Amino acid sequence: MAQTYARIIGTGSALPERVLSNADLEKFVDTSDEWIRTRTGIRQRHIAAEGQTTGDLALQAAQRALEAAGVKASELDMIVLGTTTPDIIFPSTACLVQNRLGANGCAAFDVNAACSGFVYALGVANSFIRSGQSKKVLVIGAETLTRMIDWNERETCVLFGDGAGAVVLEASSEPGIYATCLHADGGYKELLWNPVGVSAGFRDEPNHGVRIKMAGREVFKVAVKTLDSLVEQTLQAGGMEASQLDWLIPHQANLRIIEATAKRLNMSMEQVIVTVDQHANTSSGSVPLALDYAVRSGKVQRGQNLLLEAFGGGFTWASALLRY
Ligand code: ACO
Repeated sequence: MAQTYARIIGTGSALPERVLSNADLEKFVDTSDEWIRTRTGIRQRHIAAEGQTTGDLALQAAQRALEAAGVKASELDMIVLGTTTPDIIFPSTACLVQNRLGANGCAAFDVNAACSGFVYALGVANSFIRSGQSKKVLVIGAETLTRMIDWNERETCVLFGDGAGAVVLEASSEPGIYATCLHADGGYKELLWNPVGVSAGFRDEPNHGVRIKMAGREVFKVAVKTLDSLVEQTLQAGGMEASQLDWLIPHQANLRIIEATAKRLNMSMEQVIVTVDQHANTSSGSVPLALDYAVRSGKVQRGQNLLLEAFGGGFTWASALLRY
C-alpha cells in the first residue's frame, strides 16, 4: 500500500506590533545591547499589547496559514496548538481558536512541551495523518511568554518575546514529513521552569508571582549536547545524510546554540534560518515563525529538505525531518 505522508501546504505567523529593542531595555534593566547581542544574538523582541493574548496571535497566524494553503477552516479535522502560556486554564487555547476560526466540531487540544511545543504538536499531527485518522490538520505554536517575565531579573527578561506561527498539514502520497522525534527528561525540571500552578497551589510569597526561573549556563550546556544527538537520531530515523539537508530551522533561543548545532551538521550558517535577532525566544512560536519567514522570504523552496528542532523546559526536545 502507498505511504501516506503529512505535507505542509501553508504557513503563517503573527507578531505583536510593539517592538522592544535592546536599547529600549537598557533604559529600565541593568543590561547592555552589547551584552545581549554577544551572549545571545538577540537585537529586539515583540511584546504583546495589554489584553492581547496567545489566542489572538494564534488566530492571526492560523488565518494566514489557511489562506496560504487555500483551505477553509471548516475543512479541518484537527487543531493542535503548542503553548505554555494559554489564554486561560480551560478551555484550551486550541478550542478558543477553533471557535474563532469557525472550525467547530473538529478535534482541538493544546500540547504543553514548553519551547518544544510546536514541534511536539507537529509530531502528534503527523501521527494522526500517517495513521489515516486525519486529512487536514492545523498545527500552531503560540506564546505570550513576556506575561511571565520578571523585568527585574536581567538573567531571563532579556531573552524572551511574544509571537505565533502555524502550518496546515494535508495527507498526501508525496513526502512530507519523513520522521519526527520527541523526547523529555523531567529530571531537569528545576533548571528551567515556572513553579506556579493550579494543583500545586498558586503561591502567595511576596515577589514570587508567575515567573520563569532559569539556570542559564546549565540549560545552555544540556541544550547543545542534547541537540547534537537529536539531529543525528532524526537523520537516521528519516534515512538521510546531513549533506542532503537544504535548511536547518532551529528553535530560536540563542545564536550560539544554533551555531553549535549547525557545526555538528557540517552546515554553513547560510543554510540556517535565523530570526532570534528579530524575535528573541518566543518558545513554541519560534520554529513556525522562522519557517514562515523562510517560506515568505523565498529562502525555502518546494522540494527542499528541512530539519526542524527545538529544546525547552521539562526538559523537552523534539525534531522533524521533512520535504517542504
Ligand atoms: N545583562 C548584563 N549582564 C548580565 C545579564 C544581562 N541581561 N544577565 C546576566 N548578566 C551577568 C551575570 O550576572 C554574570 O555576571 P558575573 O560574571 O559578574 O557573575 C555575567 O553576566 C555572565 O553570566 P553567564 O551566566 O556567564 O553568561 P552566559 O555566557 O552563560 O550567558 C545566557 C547567559 C545568555 C542566559 C546563556 O547561558 C544562555 O543563553 N543559556 C541558554 C538559556 C536559554 O536559551 N534559555 C531559553 C529557554 S531554553 C531554550 O530555549 C534553549
